[in-house]
Amino acid sequence: MAYETILFDTTDAIAKITVNRPKALNALNSQVVDELLAAVEEIEKNEDIRVLIITGAGEKVFVAGADITELAKLNPVSAKHFASQGHKLMLKLESLSIPVLAAVNGFALGGGLELALACDFIYASENVKVGQPEIDLGIIPGFGGTQRLARIVGKNMAKEMILTGMRLSAEEAEKKGIVNRVVPAAELMETAEKSARSIAKKGRVSVYAAKQAINNGLDTDLKNGCEIEINSFALCMASPDANEGTTAFLEKRQPEFKGSLKE
Ligand code: CAA
Repeated sequence: MAYETILFDTTDAIAKITVNRPKALNALNSQVVDELLAAVEEIEKNEDIRVLIITGAGEKVFVAGADITELAKLNPVSAKHFASQGHKLMLKLESLSIPVLAAVNGFALGGGLELALACDFIYASENVKVGQPEIDLGIIPGFGGTQRLARIVGKNMAKEMILTGMRLSAEEAEKKGIVNRVVPAAELMETAEKSARSIAKKGRVSVYAAKQAINNGLDTDLKNGCEIEINSFALCMASPDANEGTTAFLEKRQPEFKGSLKE
């Protein structure tokens, strides 16, 4: 599919999506959301892709939120559709069988922070500012901010951020666990790619099992979360990767993981 608002390329086993609407600070209009959904569906079908990196075009902004020009025209029915599509995208990223890394290269506000929060982890450049400023537009976050942010920073901090619309620096966001690591802007993409290359060498099945066990476990209580882990651990043994990984260790060589989710 030809995309107009995103750049989509794949090098070796790593796919990169760049939200690319520089004139609107990479804001998410319906077209961007639809194209992101289509690209993620393309990735889902391609077993050769092992990690996805999401970033924004330019050096100033990751994504400045949902497109406010479009928001201004919404009625309750179209708003429900718009928010549902956004949620569909975020849930798809979260449940994607491969890890999704956000390389946040500037402002990540509103839907931009929500997009990053739906990724498995976030690397940020030093110039980053994150926040949920929707309250200043007379609305609330619509792509998962009230839910995912609260699960990461806790109820009270999420309320302070969402009710005041405050922006956090990269350093503050790191302290609160919103971003994993802050690096100089010039090192951001290399940091994300290095991490992606490292994950791409692991077993597809064990990476998938670990991601799903963490995500699904956090949606439930500890006892059920542990049950999820037990079953995910056992399922790993169905893949030849478990035998390859343990044998390679005992034979003092590097493993060559070839397991597939299609087996
Ligand atoms: N939607 C549409 N256009 C946007 C936009 C957005 N979210 N953010 C910026 N733009 C546009 C501006 O209108 C401006 O366009 P023109 O050049 O045509 O005037 C252009 O991008 C540059 O923006 P600024 O002049 O504002 O740039 P700045 O450097 O002074 O400020 C900024 C940068 C702090 C990111 C500021 O643009 C800003 O605060 N943007 C809005 C952030 C926001 O409120 N996001 C939440 C959106 S609602 C949402 O996301 C709901 C949801 O949960 C789904």
